[in-house]
Amino acid sequence: MTLEKIVAESAGKIQKIWKPEPRHTEFPFPELLKSTKPLEIEIGCGKGKFITARAEKSTERNLLAIDKAGKWLKRRRLSAEKRGLAHLKFLVADAREILRNHIPQGRVSIFHIYFPDPWPKRRHRDRRLVTADFLRLLFDRLVPGGLLYAATDDADYFQAIKKAVQESGCAWQMREACNTRLTTDVELPMTNYENRFFTAGCDLYYLELKKS
Ligand SMILES: C[S@@+](CC[C@H](N)C(=O)[O-])C[C@H]1O[C@@H](n2cnc3c(N)ncnc32)[C@H](O)[C@@H]1O
Repeated sequence: MTLEKIVAESAGKIQKIWKPEPRHTEFPFPELLKSTKPLEIEIGCGKGKFITARAEKSTERNLLAIDKAGKWLKRRRLSAEKRGLAHLKFLVADAREILRNHIPQGRVSIFHIYFPDPWPKRRHRDRRLVTADFLRLLFDRLVPGGLLYAATDDADYFQAIKKAVQESGCAWQMREACNTRLTTDVELPMTNYENRFFTAGCDLYYLELKKS
């Protein structure tokens, strides 16, 4: 179960309460699935700056931005609506749940996963999003030749992701780079975390996985 941590103060003690993510019994944007346009999905879009800029650049694709935290998405949604970006949708949900239950096999052209939470403590590693299982799910939902772009500042997570690529057993073609984006649209703004780590002088690790 995907869980959101809420920290509450009670009788002088910090309590950790775990709340389940909302479940979507129906996919709220069926028009995205019916459309013949390519579908791109950003998983963990945070403030949504990257995907909004990408939507502004092209109306020839549909874009779905998913984040389990809704804090920024309402603002982004309103701003996208004002700018007439009807082909861009924001969804507050656990991306794993949406992909498993609502996105058909072979439907997605591109996935973007930028700076997923690294969970650096050993005891928290099983909370990492990008695992062999998750990569198998993404592989299944991609069209043949579909792409997954990922980035992280965490060298350990980067190695773990590459190991998971091997463990997934899927026919991925992999390209990697340090401090150079692998997407063709290098002129698009950095994501919030990308900018934060870049400004701090961290190394940024980029990965492209292509479904062969
Ligand atoms: C470190 S932030 C990075 C945000 C953004 N990609 C960026 O680069 O600025 C990771 C984001 O992933 C989201 N996230 C983590 N697990 C998720 C899941 N299972 N489904 C959807 N979003 C998730 C978090 O809520 C958070 O906004």
